[in-house]
Amino acid sequence: RKILGLGAIGAALVAGTANADVRDIRIGVDVPYEPMEYRTPDGELTGFDIDLGNALCAEIGIDCEWVVQGWDGIIPGLMARKYDAIMSSMTINEQRREQVLFSEPYITPPSAWFAPGDAEIGTPSEESLEGLTVGVQRGTLQDNYVTDMYGDVADVNRYATADDMVLDMDSGRLDAVFLDFPIGKSTLLDSDAGDYKVVGNMITEPKEYFGEGFGIAFRKRDEALAETFNEALAELKANGTYDEIHARYFGE
Ligand code: ARG
Repeated sequence: RKILGLGAIGAALVAGTANADVRDIRIGVDVPYEPMEYRTPDGELTGFDIDLGNALCAEIGIDCEWVVQGWDGIIPGLMARKYDAIMSSMTINEQRREQVLFSEPYITPPSAWFAPGDAEIGTPSEESLEGLTVGVQRGTLQDNYVTDMYGDVADVNRYATADDMVLDMDSGRLDAVFLDFPIGKSTLLDSDAGDYKVVGNMITEPKEYFGEGFGIAFRKRDEALAETFNEALAELKANGTYDEIHARYFGE
């Protein structure tokens, strides 16, 4: 214990971190989910989560390697130790808390409905969505919500990736999609693909679906690791790094 302890302290000093237990880790992420996680034209991972994740690892003094994983298998991949954390716009909610340990939320965006600019959909409801074909990413909270609320009246198409869904929307096969707001804004409103609009209000309730913001997920036993990330997040918020990364993707 004594020798190990000294060694660990030495390693911690070299690494510049107070937490001797934390080593280099791998982080699972599902792409593309622009502007949170996607690839540059030369194939490099970029986005708010990627930049924030890398800044957190730098703050902690560890190297982090990103592992791309489809959303469907992203929690199983964590359990199977393909990686040690998930940073992939994953919303903290009670259902997932049964399986994983979350960091503090690092951003809290709403969800929203997006439709073609000329669509005549009133505020989304069982009446206004009746008979429409709507898209969600499979296995997301948006899938759970739309399936539970409107699965009986609307035709719900589930997509493996957010991009497949946007492509179908562009080719006119979908009347509306339900997405984390920043992703719809970036891939539909701000893209040069077509003319799109938000339909209805930003949606943040009920909490059992919409949860408490996006968190980094860890295996339940990795409490020290989660705590280290929480401390690093607090530091990046205090020293302006968080704001700088936020402005890079969302403006001032
Ligand atoms: N925030 C939503 C959820 O947690 C969707 C996240 C999807 N993330 C991604 N990288 N595809 O269910």
